[in-house]
Amino acid sequence: MKIVLILLGSPRKNGNSAVLAEQVGAGASSGGATVKSIILHDLNIKPCRGCRNCQKEEANGCVINDDMQDIYPLLREADVIVLASPVYWFTFSAQLKLCIDRWYAVGIGERNIFAGKELALLLVYADSDPFISGGVNALRSFQDICRYLNAKMAGMVYGSAREEGEIRNNHEIMEKAFRLGVELATRC
Ligand SMILES: Cc1cc2nc3c(=O)[nH]c(=O)nc-3n(C[C@H](O)[C@H](O)[C@H](O)COP(=O)(O)O)c2cc1C
Repeated sequence: MKIVLILLGSPRKNGNSAVLAEQVGAGASSGGATVKSIILHDLNIKPCRGCRNCQKEEANGCVINDDMQDIYPLLREADVIVLASPVYWFTFSAQLKLCIDRWYAVGIGERNIFAGKELALLLVYADSDPFISGGVNALRSFQDICRYLNAKMAGMVYGSAREEGEIRNNHEIMEKAFRLGVELATRC
């Protein structure tokens, strides 16, 4: 049975990226996966200090004692990690970026826990054009992150919506998100 971990990067609990995440979660559950979701905005996640203590030979993870310490084991056990984010200022939300920065402790060289895992991205932006909105920046960053981590790019679902939950009216993207969830749970 696969474990799917969803990291929610929006402060809006019923926002558009959360709606897509719910769809992916529903699809993945229907495909037999165990789904866990984390609302990053509710947690105390400090920025990476760049101290590189985590890269010392004797190091045992990140030295910052905050809620990221509870997330590391969940990242480790997950088969699939789904990043769900609004576009804020032409890229991921700060909430998600803070979390990704802290992957430094577990994403480099022999410490890389992401190699071979599947990563997926759910992204929502207000402008209808993914270039003007900055959505492409986040999509490109996601591609680079997957490549760097030797993770498999398992899928990207993205589209435009502005008001909280408005994305529900977009049946095509809702269906896409559900189908991605099923695939994530069932793909070998
Ligand atoms: C601080 C802030 C920055 C934003 N920056 C952008 C942006 O650069 N490009 C864009 O298309 N939409 C931008 N938006 C709009 C959101 O991406 C859009 O409303 C999205 O649906 C929010 O997703 P959510 O409901 O999951 O939070 C911004 C919204 C906020 C609050």
